[in-house]
Amino acid sequence: MSVHVSGTGAGTGAGASGEGAVLKRLSIPEFSARKGQEPLVCLTAYTFPMAQRLDGHVDLLMVGDSLGMVLYGFDTTLPVTLDMMIQHGAAVCRGSKTAMVVVDMPFGAYQESPEQAFRSAARIMKETGCQAVKLEGGREMAETVSFLVRRGIPVMGHVGLTPQSVNTLGGYRARGRGDQEAAGIMADAIAIAEAGAFSVVLEGVMEQIAQAVTARVSVPVIGIGASAACDGQVLVAEDILGLFSAFKPRFVKRYAELGNDIEEAAERYAREVRARSFPGPDNVFGAIKKHG
Ligand code: KIV
Repeated sequence: MSVHVSGTGAGTGAGASGEGAVLKRLSIPEFSARKGQEPLVCLTAYTFPMAQRLDGHVDLLMVGDSLGMVLYGFDTTLPVTLDMMIQHGAAVCRGSKTAMVVVDMPFGAYQESPEQAFRSAARIMKETGCQAVKLEGGREMAETVSFLVRRGIPVMGHVGLTPQSVNTLGGYRARGRGDQEAAGIMADAIAIAEAGAFSVVLEGVMEQIAQAVTARVSVPVIGIGASAACDGQVLVAEDILGLFSAFKPRFVKRYAELGNDIEEAAERYAREVRARSFPGPDNVFGAIKKHG
């Protein structure tokens, strides 16, 4: 549970957790200060109700472009647009109060140039109210990260297995099996951190690399399919809740089977409608009393 509270100050005399205290979102400096401390808890959220449920349990809500696959049924994240990310990002910000919200930059919205990245990131920040954007890529994106950060946009990096590059990578297999690939991942993480990213997501890599990157890089490294030694973890909420069954990567752990609960509820509802036992007397206005 992670709720960040600050005093309202001004005349109330309220202490940090006293009467009149207001809930405050975790800030970028507070997030960065957690390097090597208590692990940072991150989950994706794409919608208002999911953000409401997860906020207060996590440090960071990530509006990932994985929503293209999880919510929209696309085969990859590539068809996701900037407008889609903005709509979902704004809903998650409305549904949360204490978690930091980071919104993914979708494929094609930032790779062309630092200027294009700035225009996209500025729209995301203005139209959603999120605290930061995330973009995929290593050394080739360092200049862009630095351009954004110097202009007031906090950036989270994402290296290792980068789903927007699925076509060049040739699939979603774990990265860094060979020495050369492992060295490349390390160089990517260092480049993005040195360019000013406040944190780096490290996805789908051999555990040894995850540990080495976490030890070497000065900002929090958030693992997904990486290692418990990372500074934090992120997973797709629908994956841990059993709501996405297209495929289940090895690194996903199921904490609930809500997909089954939904099917059972729908089946009961269908049965009751067909039997005319729903709606019952409690579900209609001015119910007619049945005699005998
Ligand atoms: O798109 C996404 O959801 C992500 C996180 C899971 C890292 O990038």
